[in-house]
Amino acid sequence: MGTKIDINKIAFDTELNVVTNMLWGCSKSNEGGEFADMLERFREVEFKIIELMGTPNISDFIPFLSRFDLQGMNQEMLKQLEHVERIFNYIIEKKMKISSNKKDEAVKDGRKDFLEILLELKEEKNDPKSFNIIHIKALLINIVVAATDTTSTMAEWVMAEILNNPSVMKKVQDELTEVIGMNSIVEEYHLPKLAYLDAVIKETLRLHPPLPFLIQRCPDESCKVGGYTIPKGTVVYINVWAIQRDSKNWTNPLEFKPERFLNHKYDYNGNNFKDGSVCARPSHVMVH
Ligand code: HEM
Repeated sequence: MGTKIDINKIAFDTELNVVTNMLWGCSKSNEGGEFADMLERFREVEFKIIELMGTPNISDFIPFLSRFDLQGMNQEMLKQLEHVERIFNYIIEKKMKISSNKKDEAVKDGRKDFLEILLELKEEKNDPKSFNIIHIKALLINIVVAATDTTSTMAEWVMAEILNNPSVMKKVQDELTEVIGMNSIVEEYHLPKLAYLDAVIKETLRLHPPLPFLIQRCPDESCKVGGYTIPKGTVVYINVWAIQRDSKNWTNPLEFKPERFLNHKYDYNGNNFKDGSVCARPSHVMVH
């Protein structure tokens, strides 16, 4: 009998390590202590925020009720954002201390991380490119939130689809054995050779997009899109979940078939997101 593992947590922690290493050069795994506890707390808070974002809110449907915050969601969201801000304040302050201690070293080898560069821009007060601490915090929160939940949700669905499709699992295992071998670690240079795994991920993103309504659009000015007038201030949701399961776009759309993506004809780059000829239809777009 095997041991239970939480794929989402493993994927979330891995991505959080990758992205925090990219942004400020240290991560939960190599720092430990209070810093690691802060980031551990971040997953809980991010989950609460995502849950709130996904909960239907009457204020979105009847905007004049929004000032009453009938479900208390606005208040709850503000509470969670305070937590996020506290975590990022801690990280930035700690980073500022480390950076000032290491200033000579950093100058010596000329290497700076993303946060160090942003903090330098903050100090250039007369420069139009200058950032303030609020911009920096917003940018970092945006990137960390955008990177972590999406990637861990995707990894969890990939594992679920592989487990439910033994023939797909066999092909993935065979490819990994051939390209990497049994006792080696996957390195970045292996990725272009993992064509089948790449197709499995693309097929997973088709059926289970981590952001099924993308990010809402809201035009500054009234405009026309595809013959429809979108008044200024309208909140527009694009239902990619429906587009990607539409039989007008895909043959047997509910079937998990990574082979669709093996011929390089369809991809997530450019504008051809489908194996049919129709793209978003009015029923896939919600406005209010
Ligand atoms: C499976 C992984 C991912 C998926 C499915 C995904 C999906 C998306 C989608 C659908 C959007 C909105 C695009 C739009 O509506 O215009 C978006 C925006 C964004 N993504 Fe990703 N993403 C993933 C991974 C990442 C990673 C790893 C990072 C950073 C390291 C990242 C950073 C961003 C940022 C900064 C934005 C813009 C947010 C904004 O406009 O405020 N994403 N992503």
